[in-house]
Amino acid sequence: MKTLFRGGTVVSGKGTKKADVLIEGEKILQVARTVTPQPGTRVMDVTGKLLLPGFIDAHTHFDLDVCGTTTADDFASGTRAALRGGTTTVVDFACPNKGESLRYGLELWHRKADGKSSCDYSFHMTIDDWNPSIAAEIDHMYAAGISSFKMYMTYPAMMIGDKAIYFALKKLKEKGGICGFHCENSELIDALVEEKKAAGENGVGCHPRTRPAHLEAEAVSRLLRIAQTVDIPVVIVHLTNAAALHEVEAARKRGQRVYVETCPQYLVLDESVYDLPDYREASQYVCSPPIRTAADQRALWAGLRKGEIQTVSTDHCSFTLEQKEAGRDDFTKIPGGVPGVETRAELIYTYGVTTRKISLATMCRTLSENPAKLYGMYPRKGVIAAGADADLVIYDPAADHTLRAADLVSRAGYTPYEGFPIRGGVQQVWLRGTLAVDHGAILIGPEGKFIPRGKCML
Ligand code: URP
Ligand code: ZN
Ligand code: ZN
Repeated sequence: MKTLFRGGTVVSGKGTKKADVLIEGEKILQVARTVTPQPGTRVMDVTGKLLLPGFIDAHTHFDLDVCGTTTADDFASGTRAALRGGTTTVVDFACPNKGESLRYGLELWHRKADGKSSCDYSFHMTIDDWNPSIAAEIDHMYAAGISSFKMYMTYPAMMIGDKAIYFALKKLKEKGGICGFHCENSELIDALVEEKKAAGENGVGCHPRTRPAHLEAEAVSRLLRIAQTVDIPVVIVHLTNAAALHEVEAARKRGQRVYVETCPQYLVLDESVYDLPDYREASQYVCSPPIRTAADQRALWAGLRKGEIQTVSTDHCSFTLEQKEAGRDDFTKIPGGVPGVETRAELIYTYGVTTRKISLATMCRTLSENPAKLYGMYPRKGVIAAGADADLVIYDPAADHTLRAADLVSRAGYTPYEGFPIRGGVQQVWLRGTLAVDHGAILIGPEGKFIPRGKCML
């Protein structure tokens, strides 16, 4: 059956235009100023609505074991939350433990996701060790549709040293590969934590103070110098602050290709959240790198506006407030991460587009088009054009509402954005031609497909 979306405003990375969109089966058939429906075509009147390509969240952690506990959201609840927020594809991080093979990590993540996911999905592969047997597995990853990787410069369980980063990047360069980096200075964090503990300080406020912005910037700078040595483009994931962005700009001036991701928590929250007097209030915002200053927020919005930041993902890593209790007497034991997969687009529209910090086209580029290009899914995903998957978000600019955890499907049980006013709202979400969400009601089961990915096209 064909479905025609008539009378809406279609958003792309270049701008907006009034156009009709005709879909058939799983694909978009035609986008034109006017499409005349044939007999039997279902017609959806979307006058006054925005049509955006299904959003891609290229940074989620579902069903992840950390700090002796497991994230509240698995692929079942996490992808339902994603869909409700207009996200039709997630790229989660497959995370083998040190000593385990990449193949094992990939199989494990397929077991976690296959048959449970309500939106489409893929995985980045975490490289937390470098040796000949892991190097030999890289080709297999590409053959299995995994074309992007992540390395951590902190977290003892996952971090990898500069020498290993260098050799791993050399191998990825042979494949035209792309790798995201968590940039923080691990040894300095250890030193600062040691000092806090020696001084008897254990509160949530110690979390940002032991992971300062300039040490994130230092790690970004060091990583970019390693990438310069290898001569390979890299992605800085969850970049939080002006100093780190400055390091990226310096590398670009030397001719390096660097991609940057930031997240809503760094755009709409500031560090004062860690000083909330109640532990349960403050601990909900603990994530790494931490939430920074209002000035950093402004620098990130400007970075999006100027095209210095290419993507906004969520780093959705959900723990309930009960799980966060683990760090009540020791801030280093608070499971790190915030939920966000369900609220990203509405926050970016409200606090970015309607306040004129960014345009609708920038929203579309950073939530859909750029992640599709960066992670090898374009033009199947990330664009409303003939031949693309019929992943559509119908956004109603008039559906103002207030964010409440009680209304969300994430199992986190809270949202860092409780009480935030939202301009407009996601009205419908179509996944490969099927109406998946209608006014908040999820209409499909675990019908998400694994999306094998190709090379970076950004
Ligand atoms: O605190 C965070 N962000 N947890 C998720 C893992 C990561 O660093 O991306
Ligand atoms: Zn990270
Ligand atoms: Zn993450």
